Amino acid sequence: MQKLQFTNKDQMPILGLGTWKSEPGEVGAAVREAIRIGYRHIDCAAIYGNEAEIGVVLEELIQSGEVRREELWITSKLWNNAHGKDQVPLALKKTLKDLRLDYLDLYLIHWPVATKTVFPSKGEDFLSHDKRPLSETWAGMEACVEKKLTRHIGVSNFNIANLETISRSATIKPEMNQIELQPLLAQKSLCEFCRQQNIHLTAYSPLGSPDRPEVMKNPDEPSLLANETVAAVAKAHNCSTAQVLIRWAIERGTAVIPKSVNPVRLAENLAVADMTLTSDDMAEMAKLDVGFRYVDGKFWTLEGSPYTLDGLWG
Ligand SMILES: NC(=O)c1ccc[n+]([C@@H]2O[C@H](COP(=O)([O-])OP(=O)(O)OC[C@H]3O[C@@H](n4cnc5c(N)ncnc54)[C@H](OP(=O)(O)O)[C@@H]3O)[C@@H](O)[C@H]2O)c1
Repeated sequence: MQKLQFTNKDQMPILGLGTWKSEPGEVGAAVREAIRIGYRHIDCAAIYGNEAEIGVVLEELIQSGEVRREELWITSKLWNNAHGKDQVPLALKKTLKDLRLDYLDLYLIHWPVATKTVFPSKGEDFLSHDKRPLSETWAGMEACVEKKLTRHIGVSNFNIANLETISRSATIKPEMNQIELQPLLAQKSLCEFCRQQNIHLTAYSPLGSPDRPEVMKNPDEPSLLANETVAAVAKAHNCSTAQVLIRWAIERGTAVIPKSVNPVRLAENLAVADMTLTSDDMAEMAKLDVGFRYVDGKFWTLEGSPYTLDGLWG
């Protein structure tokens, strides 16, 4: 399996397992099966509400010797209601307790959005960047590295302006930006900027997140798994469209974290580590880039919110 190398020589397996929407009662079995067949990178988040179940499995597999902690790459994310500098290490400690770990490999600011409540329902539930500057949250993230609660820190859903904001006052530069990347949303300029700044990228929702809640879906949204261009590439390689989509991300040098709780699909997705796509395949798929987002962030732009889609995505 290919790896992304960090400046201190730590290596992150390029393909990981997503866990958003992996329900309690099924996420533990999915993580167990994933590790059994060779996944070594698990993407978690406090807000997914399933870290405690994942933790039970991680502890069991590590204690039984099935996997060593050092072989695993565990990422988690800080939720929006804990962006205060002193809140950040506390939120990470709760995640570590749930995951039954001493440290994370990577901790990310989940969104460049601060809230007073877990899920805001009105304008007053938000905290603007003036009231809760991203630089303050980043200082809390840096404190987590100093306290050895996490080996690396980064961000998610950050545009160039937000990355520049935290980099200006950062002692430790962000090492990862986890963003939606799939052929309909190739995000060329953001990817280029991150490469220049030595910020790795992780592609989320690589399959178009078909199982996300109905309220997050647009009525006429395209199906990525049924896309004709992707299907033609899949036919030529005698593989599935999901495999082409996952491999597309790896060919671009980004990490990728498809979610599955199904043992057959977990194996299917892992098998892309041994596949390749040709430059012609990549050129054909490059034509699909229309800037379409599945996770569009509209939920942060309720009436009265200081956040806008323009501000979020730039
Ligand atoms: N940082 C962020 O803001 C953010 C946002 C979104 C996602 N993420 C991360 O990225 C991960 C992946 O994104 P996602 O969960 O939105 O969606 P995704 O990985 O694009 O799609 C997951 C869906 O695809 C299905 N699937 C998986 N493998 C398949 C295959 N080989 N063939 C057909 N269907 C397949 C899954 O069903 P089964 O489970 O039944 O197989 C599930 O319905 C998340 O789980 C999360 O860890 C982060």
